[in-house]
Amino acid sequence: MTPRVLSVAAIALWFVTIAVAVFFFVRGQTHVTPDGRTAVLLASDERNLVLTEMRGMLKTVQVVVDGLKVGDMKQVAQAARTSGMAAAADASPALMARLPLEFKQLGLGVHKRFDEIAAAADSGASREQLLASLSTQLSACVACHANYRLDAMTPAAK
Ligand code: HEC
Repeated sequence: MTPRVLSVAAIALWFVTIAVAVFFFVRGQTHVTPDGRTAVLLASDERNLVLTEMRGMLKTVQVVVDGLKVGDMKQVAQAARTSGMAAAADASPALMARLPLEFKQLGLGVHKRFDEIAAAADSGASREQLLASLSTQLSACVACHANYRLDAMTPAAK
């Protein structure tokens, strides 16, 4: 093999590697299930991490609604912030590769909106404005739940 052929082969291999990486970044590790949702296949500890984050967000919604009910905007801001972008930080690169692109976008959008709700509550937004943002937020929860589920890669993982 001449050096020229070798370098062309190396460059081609490099493109293939990039293409495979992009493919997995976009598609994640998924398959379509009989109930019509796309199952994201995760290791059991990754699934537990994501589900723990989910339960945290449900708690956030409860505390935010409670804050709105009693008019305690400090409570609203504090609760919303616990599910903001800072809460999204623990995802490992391996987990990120398994999540499809749309899932990542929806997930990051929800964390960002919690930060926006916190900032709005801090800067004197009305109860109606905050409820409107929370309603938009809940639509994103519903949209993702309609399309995705999380399956464990090993049967013993539940
Ligand atoms: C990016 C997609 C996505 C978004 C956005 C999302 N979820 Fe989830 N959530 C899921 C998936 C997938 C599951 C697992 C469902 C399954 O496997 O059947 C789940 C599960 C849950 C669970 C069950 C947790 C458990 O222990 O079983 C709760 C509670 C939950 N989500 C709350 C929320 C709330 C509240 C929001 C919005 C503030 C939200 N989720 C936004 C994808 C999402």
